[in-house]
Amino acid sequence: MKIFITREVPATIKQSLVDNGFQLVEWTEKRDLTAHELIHHTKSSDALFSVGGNQLDRHFLKTCSHLKVIALCSVGYDRVDIAAATKLGIPIGNTPGVLSKTTADTAFLLMQTVARKAIHKHKEILRGNWGFFDPMADLGVELHGKILGIYGLGRIGLELAKSCRHAFDMPIIYHNRSKNETAENELGARWVSFDDLLRQSDVLSVHANLSKETQGIFNRDTFSKMKKSAIFINTARGSMHHEVDLTNALENNVIWGAGLDVTDPEPMEADNPLLYMPNVAILPHIGSATIETRMKMMQLTVQNLIAGLHGNRLPHCVNPTVYER
Ligand code: DGY
Repeated sequence: MKIFITREVPATIKQSLVDNGFQLVEWTEKRDLTAHELIHHTKSSDALFSVGGNQLDRHFLKTCSHLKVIALCSVGYDRVDIAAATKLGIPIGNTPGVLSKTTADTAFLLMQTVARKAIHKHKEILRGNWGFFDPMADLGVELHGKILGIYGLGRIGLELAKSCRHAFDMPIIYHNRSKNETAENELGARWVSFDDLLRQSDVLSVHANLSKETQGIFNRDTFSKMKKSAIFINTARGSMHHEVDLTNALENNVIWGAGLDVTDPEPMEADNPLLYMPNVAILPHIGSATIETRMKMMQLTVQNLIAGLHGNRLPHCVNPTVYER
């Protein structure tokens, strides 16, 4: 059986698939596949090892409905039409858990980078502007004791809450559909309404899944309810914040700063005004980008592929109702 891999992956990962008797076809060009290329290569394969931002829409899934498994090398599955995959009987696998701490660390890094204007100061040095010691010039803000608000407190949000509680003694508030007992019991986190989350957070970090309900939820209206001193962090998905509204909110001092690991679109254009603001830090979607975490993600992807190609239930399945058919 044949697996199409949409990026070059380490030799050890490929070997574990070859050892299971699978034939591999790897996309080696340093660019995204077009929709046509993706279909062309996947059509002659039995499984897809999907790395990167491939759009697996209804058309793709219908054309490749023969697939025994699609294994995503990501925890997010917003680029897949899950309902269509389920209807067509294609199990979709993902990589939950192994990237929670690393992604939370990226939010933690952004929060500190914004609070202390670290990227801005570094850029100033590059421009020859080290400057002289002016005690009140271009200062950052403290994080100690400030309120951390989490929108979507799941695995990643919990890891961020732990880091902020332990490093900066930050009280935690959160807004979720359901309560997070672990966060409440272990960290004293408090569930609040969405409006209270906006009004009370000193740092508001987004960790929800992208859905119809969450798309564009951080916009002019919601930014206007936040504190003028607030820092907005998004390491989830770029389309959960409205970029023009965020830019206006920062330019007009509606909020104090922002740290983004995700933008809409990705990549962000190099002339985007957000990249030039002192209180903003942007990273190129590196939430899970450590050697250790990426290897673990690929190992889970391999587990899903092996299970799916052997006709077994995927250990990490996004659409388990596919097995009820
Ligand atoms: C994920 O795993 O969902 C990361 O955001 C990479 O896309």
